[in-house]
Amino acid sequence: MRKADERYRLDIFCRVQNIAEELNGSQNMTSTKPADIPNKQFLSTRREDNWWLGPASIALGFTLFIIYATVRAFENQYFEVSNLLSPFYSPKLEFDWWHYSPAILILWIPAGFRATCYYYRKAYYRSFFLTPPACGVTGIGGYKYCGESKFPFIIQNIHRYMFYLATIVLAILWWDALQTLFTAGHFFDFSHLQFSVGSLIFFANVIFLSGYTFGCHAFRHLVGGGLDCFSCTEGSKTAMTFWEKVTKLNENHQLWAWLSLFSVGFTDFYVRCVASNVIPDYVFFSLAK
Ligand code: FES
Repeated sequence: MRKADERYRLDIFCRVQNIAEELNGSQNMTSTKPADIPNKQFLSTRREDNWWLGPASIALGFTLFIIYATVRAFENQYFEVSNLLSPFYSPKLEFDWWHYSPAILILWIPAGFRATCYYYRKAYYRSFFLTPPACGVTGIGGYKYCGESKFPFIIQNIHRYMFYLATIVLAILWWDALQTLFTAGHFFDFSHLQFSVGSLIFFANVIFLSGYTFGCHAFRHLVGGGLDCFSCTEGSKTAMTFWEKVTKLNENHQLWAWLSLFSVGFTDFYVRCVASNVIPDYVFFSLAK
């Protein structure tokens, strides 16, 4: 009922705003455009700092990552060697009826999770859509922003479901990291315990991914968002402790987002280098004889 009310409220807001625009003959009347900007030309602003640096760096970072991930997803080789499996291809889904890269069958989950993430939305609305590119800077006009209550942006509301799927993928990546602690073919055989550069990289990756995933706004709501009283019962007290920990991660969600984006790309790059014999996976110690 509350969601329906919110959607109704946004819908009314949009209608009123659109009517006001038509009456005023203005294309630029949105709540994101400050009134004190000297003119409403695209990118006009009173700001004197390097406001463009943030959106430009984000656009560059995203573009490089998307190009790299796309190339690697379609490359369909050098993704597995010994006990190392690239996170782009994990879990490895191989079927007789599928004749393309197995990465395509799995990458839509982390891609969908990130694309609908609250932090990433802000980042790419600014850096790619320029609506607006930064606070106090006029963005591209001529659009009628209706929140995320209408198609196509209403699709962003699948984020909580993408969180569930991403959590399953994350559990599998932890499993992959555990496998790097044993020589190939001897998983959980403690006489073949080892620790390599690959183990280090895989564990750093899953730690960063966990920091990002469990700092998710949807998860924070899941653990404590529905509680009216944090101290009424033992259960609600436990929920509060949990909620506080998630909140700590959530406060640095942007940092975790970038660390995990970089680490997942770097982990794949490392596996590719080892699988293509560019470098060996240096082993710090091994119990295997
Ligand atoms: S809000 Fe960023 S992962 Fe959920």
